[in-house]
Order: sequence, then structure tokens, then C-alpha cells
Amino acid sequence: MEDIVAELEHLKKSFGTKDVLKDINVTLKKGENLVVLGKSGSGKSVLIKCLVGLIDPDDGKAVLFGKNISELQNHELNLLRKRVGFLFQSAALYDSMTVRENLEFPLRDLKDQDKTDTEALIREALKNVGLEEAIDKMPSELSGGMIKRVGLARTLILKPEIILYDEPTTGLDPITSKEISNLILEVQRKYSTASIIITHDVACARITANRIIIIKDGIFIAEGTFGELSSSEDEWIRSFFI
Ligand SMILES: Nc1ncnc2c1ncn2[C@@H]1O[C@H](COP(=O)(O)OP(=O)(O)OP(=O)(O)O)[C@@H](O)[C@H]1O
Ligand SMILES: [Mg+2]
Repeated sequence: MEDIVAELEHLKKSFGTKDVLKDINVTLKKGENLVVLGKSGSGKSVLIKCLVGLIDPDDGKAVLFGKNISELQNHELNLLRKRVGFLFQSAALYDSMTVRENLEFPLRDLKDQDKTDTEALIREALKNVGLEEAIDKMPSELSGGMIKRVGLARTLILKPEIILYDEPTTGLDPITSKEISNLILEVQRKYSTASIIITHDVACARITANRIIIIKDGIFIAEGTFGELSSSEDEWIRSFFI
């Protein structure tokens, strides 16, 4: 129990007549990279939004750091959310701000005494993603891969204990995708973060996953390592890995 940082229990969510999540049960352990695979529209983004209270489930519960988030006051939930980094599927930067200003943004709520060395925090975060030289650039001057990296740096800057990655490599070429996947792995190793990584990208799953879960028709239908699932007896499961 002490090693579990997040948990979904019997989670259910429908939109209108569409039952997107029917009975989702999953635990995320400290320091692990958990990959979630599933077809487009299967509810992967909804699932991680439920975990941080951006979407209210119809039934079941989401537990973060041992706390049932539906029982928390707003300010308590906000405190917990600060320990969770979220790299959104459409991870956009603020176009009118430089890279430095984009990275300052998550730091705006820090107390004054913690603000003294924001420059060092920004430089460390950019160094982690190999982009120190981009600090004064505008987003329009960056490639898609660089924007993803800056998005990751912005997520890392508050040193989250959990990171939720929604399609971190979508839209990138295979080489840049591998670089981002390796960065995700480096972050896990350096900071012992626990992550849920939603992806369609087999290479990303192979590089990053300690454990993979597959969602279908609102439930998890398979769980295992990359090796186990990619050699599954079930043709539908194997088809994800081709
Ligand atoms: N706020 C919402 N209101 C209504 N329907 C929604 C809402 N959010 C998601 N849905 C629906 O829930 C289903 C699952 O959406 P979700 O975004 O979680 O899919 P996904 O697995 O992340 O797909 P993709 O791989 O394309 O990102 C979809 O049918 C979607 O239209
Ligand atoms: Mg999605």
C-alpha cells in the first residue's frame, strides 16, 4: 500500500448514452512507468483526467497519494495536483511568451522565498530536455519535437512525483519520438517519478514501459510487460505491437 501513489477503483464514466469507462481498476506504484494502450476514442484521456479530478467519474473513485479526491476540498485538491505533472495531448506553449516565460508560468504560485532561483530552475529543466540554448526563443521558432521538449521541461519544473503523459510522441518523426521516449525514461530514473504514459507508439511503449495495460470497451482487458503482451496468444492484443 505504501508504494502506491495513485489508484482508480471501479471507475465508471459515460457521456450521454456512451459508456466510455465501465469498470476501470488500476494502481500506479512509486517509480514505475505504466503505459496505457487502446484504440482512439477508448477513453484513455478521460481516464487520466479522472485521476486528477478534471473529469468527475459517475461511479468509483480516484485516489491520489492515499486520498480519495472526491472527498477533498478545492484547496486540498490543488495542493495534491501540484505533485502531479500533466503533459496534455495538445501540449501547447503560450505563443506570445518566450520559452523562459513559458517555464516561469508554473512557478508563479511559488512563495517568495522559493522564487529566488527561478532562473536556475528554468535552466535545470531545459538542461534535462537538452534545450538550454532555446531559453530566449519564441515557440514559433521551434520545431514540433522542440515544443514537446519544452512542454516536458515545463511539466518537470515543479519536480512532480507523478507525471501523466497523454500521447507524448504523437505527430513526431520516429527518431524524435525515440528521443522523447528516452527522455521520459531518463526523467523516471533521475527523479524516481511514477508515470502513466498514454501512447499509440509501439517504440515509445517498448522504451518506457515497466508495465502495459490495454483498454477495450471500457475495461482493461490485458496487462503485462512489453514482451508478454507483444507475444500474446490473442491476435487483437498482438495487433497493437505490429
Ligand atoms: N467532455 C466530453 N464530453 C463528451 N464526450 C466526451 C468528453 N470527453 C471525451 N468524450 C468522449 O469519450 C470518448 C473517449 O474519449 P477520449 O478522449 O478519452 O479517447 P482517447 O482514448 O483518449 O482517444 P485518442 O486516442 O483519440 O486520444 C470519446 O467518444 C469522446 O468523444
Ligand atoms: Mg486521447
